[in-house]
Amino acid sequence: MFSMYDVIAKKRDGGVLSEEEIRFLIDGYTAGDIPDYQIAAWLMAVYLRGMNDAETAALTDAMLHSGDIVDLSRFGHLSADKHSTGGVGDKTTFIVAPLAAVLGCKTAKMSGRGLGHTGGTIDKLEAIPGYRVTLTEAQFRTQVEEIGVSVIGATGDIAPADKLLYALRDVTATVDSLPLIASSIMSKKLAAGTASIVLDVTVGSGAFMKTVSDARALAQAMVDIGVHAGKNITAVLTDMDQPLGRTVGNALELEEAITFLRGDDTGLDDLREVSLTLAAHMAANVHGISPDDAYRQAYDAWRSGAAYEKFVEWITAQGGDRTWIEDFSTHAAASVQRTVCAVQDGFLVRADAEQIGLAAMQLGAGRRTKEDGIDMTAGIRLLRKVGEPVRRGDPLAVLYTADAHLADAAEARFLSAVTIGEVRPAPISHILGIVRGEEET
Ligand code: URA
Repeated sequence: MFSMYDVIAKKRDGGVLSEEEIRFLIDGYTAGDIPDYQIAAWLMAVYLRGMNDAETAALTDAMLHSGDIVDLSRFGHLSADKHSTGGVGDKTTFIVAPLAAVLGCKTAKMSGRGLGHTGGTIDKLEAIPGYRVTLTEAQFRTQVEEIGVSVIGATGDIAPADKLLYALRDVTATVDSLPLIASSIMSKKLAAGTASIVLDVTVGSGAFMKTVSDARALAQAMVDIGVHAGKNITAVLTDMDQPLGRTVGNALELEEAITFLRGDDTGLDDLREVSLTLAAHMAANVHGISPDDAYRQAYDAWRSGAAYEKFVEWITAQGGDRTWIEDFSTHAAASVQRTVCAVQDGFLVRADAEQIGLAAMQLGAGRRTKEDGIDMTAGIRLLRKVGEPVRRGDPLAVLYTADAHLADAAEARFLSAVTIGEVRPAPISHILGIVRGEEET
């Protein structure tokens, strides 16, 4: 029997914890035998001292086995999941999930809710009247079998230790630690049970990882864990220095994804490149084909409208209203729509994703605490992206909200999040790197 005091002290002094010590603390915390204050002290020790690969793998394994593991064995190597480390305006799941299904993947995805500046796929899906984010495991499997895609909210039985730890990290300033992020994400992904995993590791102002080298290290740590667990896994590093696409906010993002799926990618180069690349790597992993061939197939599946038809099939199978998808004029509209204009001529050189995400949250699109409600119509439409020219007085963005006071505060934040300069910035790469897992022998 270990003592939690000794485990904390060992990590505080830079020691390496054994698999047994890590299992002891995760099992004890999940069972309610170890109090928050001791786990909080241990988290801070990990934050400051780090963990080596073996410790990170042991932590992942302990959290993975703290709850249920979804059985998707009936799909063999075809089951596939995609996960983002978090972003602003990230609506790729609505595009990637049906695209991958058209390419023959069995896309079985459990998603989360948004907190702080990042949005959550499950919140966004709830903008569609009737969409059921909760299915039984049997219903989930049947839909994946019949349609090739289902997206539901993660149940409380998946990696419950991570839920407890994440809530504690959130209030103890210990979220952005590489081993803690890697083990948190991978414990959930392994518990979700797919044979193949594609990770979208975001980089920049709106991401946990601010530099490509930090993101690459996180990607490598997660890929190593996945390979060790026998998964077919790839991480794609993508730009999150400015929001993805031109909308931030629940219904607005779905409208943008639907417009894109119908074939219109005007001004959406970043959304197209990131979505097609993620879907291509899913198909490449599942079918063992080259990512370039898979990309061409993904492009065709998008241009032909097959992915849009699959999206409609998926959403309506989960109870979502077809009219809402087909006719945007039926959507509720925000009562306050505030246009924010440029104060000088030049080029947009910065659009800070985190600050714009926080401005959208202030408008009502996100939640500050887990108890907050969400205004599905609130958000921001970006009329200029980084690199585009602007003239003084040109509209930069439209803010959507239910309350003019909220618009005042969000407008000030939005203006501080953008910079107009005289020199056009260098073009942005949307894909910043790929980390592929090699089968361990
Ligand atoms: N997303 C997670 O699920 N966990 C983290 O620690 C960070 C992002």
